[in-house]
Amino acid sequence: MALTASALTPKGRSLNGGAHGAAFTAARHVAIIMDGNGRWAKQRALPRSFGHRAGVNALKRTVEGAADLGIQWMTVFGFSTENWSRPAAEVAELMNLLKTYVKSDLARLEAEGARLRVIGRRNDLAPDVLEVIEHAEARTRHNTRFHLQVAFNYGGRADIAAAAARYAEAIARGEVAANGSEEAFGRFLSTAEGPPVDLVIRTSGERRLSNFLLWEAAYSELVFQDVLWPDYGPDHLKAALLEFQRRERRYGGAEVDDVLAAG
Ligand code: FPP
Repeated sequence: MALTASALTPKGRSLNGGAHGAAFTAARHVAIIMDGNGRWAKQRALPRSFGHRAGVNALKRTVEGAADLGIQWMTVFGFSTENWSRPAAEVAELMNLLKTYVKSDLARLEAEGARLRVIGRRNDLAPDVLEVIEHAEARTRHNTRFHLQVAFNYGGRADIAAAAARYAEAIARGEVAANGSEEAFGRFLSTAEGPPVDLVIRTSGERRLSNFLLWEAAYSELVFQDVLWPDYGPDHLKAALLEFQRRERRYGGAEVDDVLAAG
């Protein structure tokens, strides 16, 4: 798709006011399944690790461009609970890349007022990986301008199961009522602090959620882009946002025009 710089304002607002003329804001919370690193490397007859390394550069480019597109929260899938089944060398590479990414981008994130959080199961992570994560989280804790969440050793089902256990413990301690409300339960998820996920993007042409943000994506728009993650950047993100703006989000309700037409 040809993109024009004027299609989105710097704040990410639609210039034409959307389908029904009502102004609406671009996606506030965008989640990305960064897929296609292996295929990118294979196309170049390179080891898969080169694809992941190029994927880190794509992540940096994309995060850098996100705030200018009006995005305030971004959650990216860096390592899934299922990724442990990959060869040990590839798992080790991904662990190292998380450290490399966090270390190399921390100063920039800090300078730009961005908060970095890593969500997912920490118990299985090595002490050196945990140290880098905890240091970066502490350094950026008070920042509010942009929120980057890296899902690492994350699985949507595992996160919901862990939240259920914490919810049950809090009920047993008498801290919360066992009223079964979505809101009460949602506070125990690792993503509880953030706004709802407006848009989930998956690259590489695959069309699955792959256990990512199962609870949080209940009403998200899904955009699948035929670009391999290492080639991704702000222009692709802008294209996904334009697609998002064309969608009409009804949250299970009816469109006003439909209700009037039905009398
Ligand atoms: C999927 O590509 C990607 C991953 C499993 C890891 C994503 C990691 C990065 C983008 C780089 C590291 C960033 C952090 C923050 C750790 P794939 O290997 O499944 O690709 P394929 O489907 O083409 O084989």
